[in-house]
Amino acid sequence: MINLRTHSEIESLRKSALLVGSTLAEVAKKIKPGVTTAHLDKIAEEFIRDNNAIPVFKGYYGYPASLCISINEVVVHGIPGNREIKEGDIVSIDCGTELNGWVGDSAYTFALNGVSEEAQKLMKVTKESLLIGIEQCILGNRLGDLSYAIQSYCEKHGYGVVRELCGHGVGRKMHEKPEVPNYGKAGNGVKFKDGMIIAIEPMITMGDRAVVFERDGWTCRTKDFSYAAHYEHDVAITKDGPQILSSFEEIENTIKQNNNLVLV
Ligand code: MF3
Ligand code: CO
Repeated sequence: MINLRTHSEIESLRKSALLVGSTLAEVAKKIKPGVTTAHLDKIAEEFIRDNNAIPVFKGYYGYPASLCISINEVVVHGIPGNREIKEGDIVSIDCGTELNGWVGDSAYTFALNGVSEEAQKLMKVTKESLLIGIEQCILGNRLGDLSYAIQSYCEKHGYGVVRELCGHGVGRKMHEKPEVPNYGKAGNGVKFKDGMIIAIEPMITMGDRAVVFERDGWTCRTKDFSYAAHYEHDVAITKDGPQILSSFEEIENTIKQNNNLVLV
């Protein structure tokens, strides 16, 4: 069953989704060459708890941290640890919070100084594909219209669309129905209904779309070690059109203030 949420429920989830954006902005202040991903995770967990929320990733099927930090060839679900961020890296940071019983889930890919032109292009196209997918979230459309829009845009640029992982419904739990694939056929799938809330999260590779899972059971990286980018928004489908409940605004303002980062 796909949950349909009222206006006030959507506003409650928006608060949680905005806290995720604030958390990612707080983390972004601290990104610089030499910082470990474990340090960034600690900053996020403290910030989330200081805001009376719970880091939902922590303990989810045994996941050990509050963030997923996925560098370069890591697509998603990189576990924070001793790996240091370095110049030229691209770093996807994914975060989820539960605030007053509502889950927000959002991700952003950051570029360190010295990032290649090709990696910036990958990031730009991935972020654009997210917005192109969101544009499809109107009543009368089906899920496949969204999936097809993301896939065709990314493949047109010669990129790979990861098949093994999907976006998802989001609400009281992080993963609700429906699954939201980043590939598919226009006209297929469930019809969008007023009150659906979905997390859309294209995971796009510069090379082949094949991925492997590391032996930690989580880390998902490209098989060919090509770079991958990942952005995620929570989106409510309403009769007035899509509403983006998460926000990159604070994150991008912080990037402009951090000399170690490049805004793509
Ligand atoms: N945004 C990711 C997802 O929707 C984050 C989940 S990481 C996990 O699947 F560790 F919590 F599983
Ligand atoms: Co998600």
